[in-house]
Amino acid sequence: MMMEDMVAYCNQYGFIFQGSEIYGGLANTWDYGPLGTRLKNNIKDAWRYFFIQSRDSSFELDSDILMNPTVWKASGHLDSFSDPLLDCKECKTRHRADNLIGDFDEEAKADGMTTEEMIQYIRTNNVPCPKCGKSNFTDIRQFNLMFATERGVTQNSTNTIYLRPENAQGEYVNFLNVQRTMRAKLPFGIGQIGKAFRNEITPGNFTFRTIEFEQMEYQTFCKKGTDEELYAFFKDYGIKFFNLLGLPSENLRFHDHEKLAHYAKAACDIEYLFPFGWGEINGTHNRTDFDLSRHCEFSGKRLDYIDLLTNEKYIPYIIESTYGVDRIVLAVLFEALQEEELESGDTRIVLKISPALAPIKLNVLPVMKKKHGEKALEIYNNVKKHFMATYDDAGNIGRRYRRGDAIGTPYAISIDDDTINDGIVTLRERDSMKQIRIKTEELVDYLNDKVKLPVV
Ligand code: GAP
Repeated sequence: MMMEDMVAYCNQYGFIFQGSEIYGGLANTWDYGPLGTRLKNNIKDAWRYFFIQSRDSSFELDSDILMNPTVWKASGHLDSFSDPLLDCKECKTRHRADNLIGDFDEEAKADGMTTEEMIQYIRTNNVPCPKCGKSNFTDIRQFNLMFATERGVTQNSTNTIYLRPENAQGEYVNFLNVQRTMRAKLPFGIGQIGKAFRNEITPGNFTFRTIEFEQMEYQTFCKKGTDEELYAFFKDYGIKFFNLLGLPSENLRFHDHEKLAHYAKAACDIEYLFPFGWGEINGTHNRTDFDLSRHCEFSGKRLDYIDLLTNEKYIPYIIESTYGVDRIVLAVLFEALQEEELESGDTRIVLKISPALAPIKLNVLPVMKKKHGEKALEIYNNVKKHFMATYDDAGNIGRRYRRGDAIGTPYAISIDDDTINDGIVTLRERDSMKQIRIKTEELVDYLNDKVKLPVV
């Protein structure tokens, strides 16, 4: 399946629409439709379960997008959160130098090169422009990715503030608030789900690279010396999380960074095999005591942890495990969406998504609207109190099954004469298409068990 097929599928079935579509769109922005929103929320719930609920000393935060601008000075984003850009002098298109090199030769390891090494590599190897094929570029300029905006109503009181480019800083500046109020002892975690904004100028591969996106970030505060073990733990934990979401290990790989961000002692991505190649969906970083030390320095406030048992006082290390919600939605869709040949010779579009992630869990279908519609509505009105369900009485039953298959609904029940006479419905499972007969009163318990996340 190619990217354009996925874009068309998402648009047709109500997962993802072009942002501001009726105005011709806005590059690299996308709106989630009703089914995409449900899928996204289910992925976020799975993250909450895996990272917050099922772990000890693990706390969720919801910090503001807008922060005191000094935060971004302290974090290093104002000075060094930039992309190396150059322009093609022939066709006037703009590119990221590291992407040009990576696309030209994957082995070249552009992420380990300095600006000078990149431009030298491009010139020596005559790396071509992907648009016009010529190799005639400007020098590389560093372009800051943060979105700046103005605060205040009068010009005199304006003040530049930034839309956060990551969630992490909200978690760092609240480190002591959470530690104090939750009476937390190291190691403990603070996680947050929230929007982040980056002024990405390069083309996006649908929702893979956007200017507004959502992150699920998780910071573990720990004592120096325990950091390396935790770093290794969270790399593996990431693979387990993705397996839980239905992404198999053979389509995942680690990518250890050679060139490290200004804050990191070690960094590793988990990449998923998209149709356009391997793409990062997670990052694990050993951020040392860089962030908290910098916030101490810039805020003038101490951010020490005091170990009450030993009376030691120190600034904790941080292991960060960060996930891009939008990229995970895309990976889950690519993994699950299939066009399947049936024994009958027909084909069907089926989204073989984990039932826990499926936007709709059950489709309630009267075999004949006139005869069975009332009973089917009665059942629907009951089951919808327990999980997301839909009622569909339009068209023949086979077509209605197919509509549910295409959006990943794992179960459908058909209501017929037997339901009216003795309360029995036919339950069809999406992937096997096998059918069983089940009593109406057993339905909710049976399905609740099938559509919940597996216990870890
Ligand atoms: N706090 C660390 C941090 O933000 P990152 O690797 O820059 O690290 C974390 O971003 C995750 O956010 C990535 O693994 C990716 O899944 C997602 N992400 C980053 N930039 C993105 C973009 N422009 N569009 C969509 N998702 C993005």
